[in-house]
Amino acid sequence: MNKPNHLKKVIAKHITQHGPLSFATWMNTVLNHPKWGYYANKEHIFGAEGDFITASEHCPVYSAFVAQYAAQLDDLVKMDTILEIGPGSGAFAIGFMKAAAYYRLPIKKYYLYEPSAKLREKLHKRLQQDIPEQINKVEILDDINTLKISGMLILNEIFDVLPVHLFQYQEGDILERKVHVADHTFALQAEPFEDAKLKKIFEDLLAPYKETWPQGYQGELCLEAKTLMAKLGEILEQGYVFVHDYGDEGKEYYHPSRTQGSIRCFYQHQVLDNFFENIGQQDITASVNFTQLADFAQKEGFTLINYKKQMDFLAQLEVPNFLLDQALSMHNQLRFLLLPERMGEKFKIMVLKK
Ligand SMILES: C[S@@+](CC[C@H](N)C(=O)[O-])C[C@H]1O[C@@H](n2cnc3c(N)ncnc32)[C@H](O)[C@@H]1O
Repeated sequence: MNKPNHLKKVIAKHITQHGPLSFATWMNTVLNHPKWGYYANKEHIFGAEGDFITASEHCPVYSAFVAQYAAQLDDLVKMDTILEIGPGSGAFAIGFMKAAAYYRLPIKKYYLYEPSAKLREKLHKRLQQDIPEQINKVEILDDINTLKISGMLILNEIFDVLPVHLFQYQEGDILERKVHVADHTFALQAEPFEDAKLKKIFEDLLAPYKETWPQGYQGELCLEAKTLMAKLGEILEQGYVFVHDYGDEGKEYYHPSRTQGSIRCFYQHQVLDNFFENIGQQDITASVNFTQLADFAQKEGFTLINYKKQMDFLAQLEVPNFLLDQALSMHNQLRFLLLPERMGEKFKIMVLKK
């Protein structure tokens, strides 16, 4: 039996025996199951052979822009430790380490926390190959529970792969959309929350928006974002958090016209909307609600110091001319990063300080 079918069978059996799953648990399993989940088992995820391309993968100039911005943060130059969460192929770290020397950013340690064992293995090889002269500064981690740093945390397209709960608004009430199994296929069904505490969390977080919603309005809510932000608060003693992701502010995120949420799947460079297909073989993402994220951050003691569309964030900086000899022309990289219809408008950069 192939791996995706095996994963599908295991989840279906669990649902049959124990009842429907929250979409967040289902999503977490198909993406992060340690053996058959997407990030654990897919052979090629990033780049041309994989399913999608990220800014760091496609544009070496991207991490150089971020290094340039970081070098302008007066107190950051005194801090010398970086932790990147979910580095994937390592492209950002490689570009950043190279650019750090140019912008005189003194880095003593660059930690890369990658939960997928398969990606950690690939990461190790790529870092050794691409930055052998800096390899002694780099450390790949499989756990960050006891880590404390002063410096910079980097999260590039991490919040958008966190599991989300799905909800539906019906006759003034908020229902949870859970995953059931019927005829060996997964299906969503809206039902009252079983857990009163969970319902209260949903009601509180969605209260500013729900008055405008039509009947049957569907959306998603990422409680894992709160958990991850709390973790970042524990790890970072002093310094900055950089969040780079697809997303919107709350009013747009829960706009009444956006009736079906923002979940998208990436499979062989196609954007698909059926998350019940290609199980364990396609990435599943949901846009980030940056208003909610800023609120979570504030509660963990962070101050928001910058939040911009990528095109506006990068426009504050100078084109890193030391990279003009790139194989992919600077012109093409800038188009990819800045054009509103590419990554310029939908992709945001948020900088938090502690
Ligand atoms: C969309 S990829 C982004 C990779 C890379 N940051 C980039 O921009 O090219 C998501 C990455 O996050 C990791 N990841 C998934 N869930 C995570 C979690 N809960 N905490 C930390 N990393 C996670 C994945 O293994 C993968 O490396």
